[in-house]
Amino acid sequence: MSNHIKKVYSLYASIYDTLFGKLFEHGRHTALKMMDIEPHDTILEVGVGTGLSLPLYPKGIKIIGIDLSEEMLMKAKAKKMKYALNNVHLSTMDASLMAFGDNTFHKVIASHVITVVPDPLRTLNEIKRVCKKDGYIFILNYAGIDNPLISRFEKIISPLRDKLGLGKHFDLNMLLQKACLSPISKQHVNILNACQIIKCRNNTTAENH
Ligand SMILES: C[S@@+](CC[C@H](N)C(=O)[O-])C[C@H]1O[C@@H](n2cnc3c(N)ncnc32)[C@H](O)[C@@H]1O
Repeated sequence: MSNHIKKVYSLYASIYDTLFGKLFEHGRHTALKMMDIEPHDTILEVGVGTGLSLPLYPKGIKIIGIDLSEEMLMKAKAKKMKYALNNVHLSTMDASLMAFGDNTFHKVIASHVITVVPDPLRTLNEIKRVCKKDGYIFILNYAGIDNPLISRFEKIISPLRDKLGLGKHFDLNMLLQKACLSPISKQHVNILNACQIIKCRNNTTAENH
């Protein structure tokens, strides 16, 4: 399954910023504000992709970005060079099996990633593990449009979206519950308020299901 993700994102890498750069810009800016980054923070961005958010972080803050796709990361590396982001460190890594120690990061963000990864619960549990106890976890994702017809349509096309690596339809609140993560705030963003940023405090132990 992760090979499938690598394959599709190797194809998207060159067009990703054109397709989603402007479209998701509002969400990226709002997420950065919600993260309320402090000077001592170390941040992990899971599934950093082409690094669209990297230039938005305050300079001097240590940012680690990981992604499965080498091609997406190459685009992120180009941004690191272009904007001289010496505070940014990028690695190829699977978010469901990270090489970081427990309790490493003050804040972790997964932006448009949790519905794309092959095993969302395992990934969330890994995020909890590497996030410091009482650190913060931010999930930015498409949340659907509040209309029964559109909802039904979304369920129908979910397998196709999944095949295209654009995320599957599932109940994000249920997933958070399974991972013992309780949202402390939510904000709707992007066109039609179709995406949401969920902020959670990492105050329960990761469970392995
Ligand atoms: C829709 S893109 C989002 C990119 C970026 N976060 C953004 O908001 O623009 C999803 C990204 O998640 C990455 N990804 C998918 N599964 C992953 C996994 N298991 N581990 C790490 N990255 C993964 C993909 O390679 C892709 O770059």
